[in-house]
Amino acid sequence: MQTQPIEIAKDIFYIGVSDPDIRTFDIVMRTANGSTYNAYLIKTSDGVIIVDTVKKEFQAEFFLHVEALCSYEEIAYVIIHHIEPDHSGALPQLIKKAPNAKVLISPQATTMLKAIIGSEEIAFETIWTNKQLKLGDKTISFLTTPYLHWPETMSSYVHEDKLLFSGDVFGSHYYDKRLFNDKVGDFSYAFAYYYEHIMRPFKSYVNNALKLYERFEIELIAPLHGPILRDNPHQYIELYTQWSHKQKPSEQKILSIFYLTSYKNTQEMAQSIMEGSESVEGVITNMYDLSSIEEPNMIKILEESDGFLIGTPTINADAPKPVWDLLSCLMFLEKAGKVAGAFGSYGWSGEAVDNIIIRLKSLKLRVPPLEPLKIKLIPSKDELKKCFDFGEEFAQILNGKMIEIDMA
Ligand code: FEO
Repeated sequence: MQTQPIEIAKDIFYIGVSDPDIRTFDIVMRTANGSTYNAYLIKTSDGVIIVDTVKKEFQAEFFLHVEALCSYEEIAYVIIHHIEPDHSGALPQLIKKAPNAKVLISPQATTMLKAIIGSEEIAFETIWTNKQLKLGDKTISFLTTPYLHWPETMSSYVHEDKLLFSGDVFGSHYYDKRLFNDKVGDFSYAFAYYYEHIMRPFKSYVNNALKLYERFEIELIAPLHGPILRDNPHQYIELYTQWSHKQKPSEQKILSIFYLTSYKNTQEMAQSIMEGSESVEGVITNMYDLSSIEEPNMIKILEESDGFLIGTPTINADAPKPVWDLLSCLMFLEKAGKVAGAFGSYGWSGEAVDNIIIRLKSLKLRVPPLEPLKIKLIPSKDELKKCFDFGEEFAQILNGKMIEIDMA
């Protein structure tokens, strides 16, 4: 484990800490190789700048690093790119120790800052794109990069060193004491996994951030987690560019029908809905059996779908677990604009479809106000015709037919 600060550029030091034993981060992320909470210290001819802090449990080591490099009186600024507790955990103590420090944060972080410090009496200033800090021999430009991964997140660029402090962007949950990307083991899986879980739901914001980064010549990327990217940092920018690339809207709309079925009744409904939707020119429909589709594939299909339907039976007054698993995948995706709905066959009470519709609406998907398509047990010929009509109507809406959609 690192015990000394490490100089990563002229007068810029790594003062982060390691958490090699963590195996789950933020409840949902697996961290097989542990993680790090990266923080940095910049020594200038006119004072010291601290760049982010660490998780509270690790603050003692963080302060040892700070003390090895400067006195607390020398600290002029503390830049907080991201106020999530894994990066702001040591901030309350740091403010107490550093009497001359002013905190620099994005405007969106203000309320959270006051809540974390537990006081209104904080020396702070807000920063955003095009604002600059010039202290001694270092010049730092701030970049507003919201939603990467919280609404308040920022990046910044040190001109003299061509160094990008990227916040969570380009991070990995990957601990390796060798610290630099050219020294550590192969962390490509962790880099991609981090993108998929943290960045993918915000692809538009990633694209905006990449445009801001393009303004600068970047030789070194210092993220908030995982290896510091000094060897060919552009390969990581390129990966984000590829992963966040959005296909130009196609002429064709993609409708995915996910279904679960016990006695083939919901499956038959799905089949008729698909036939109805395929009667609409410009809509391509595919069917997927939820009982045997794995989560990464659910995410991929949902991401590529302009709209989707969920067919579910009702078991014990609810939809079975694979349906809820599918809905939980939406957490990793940009949902805006997707059209969604539900249908299903039931035996006794038939609550599953209504439960799913409520959930789809609460996720802010576009749910057309069609009559709920619920059929008791085996669909009759007439009922299958209803399914066909439902599919046709849904596909027309997907294709741009104007209707009022209640987004409440
Ligand atoms: Fe590393 Fe979003 O915190």
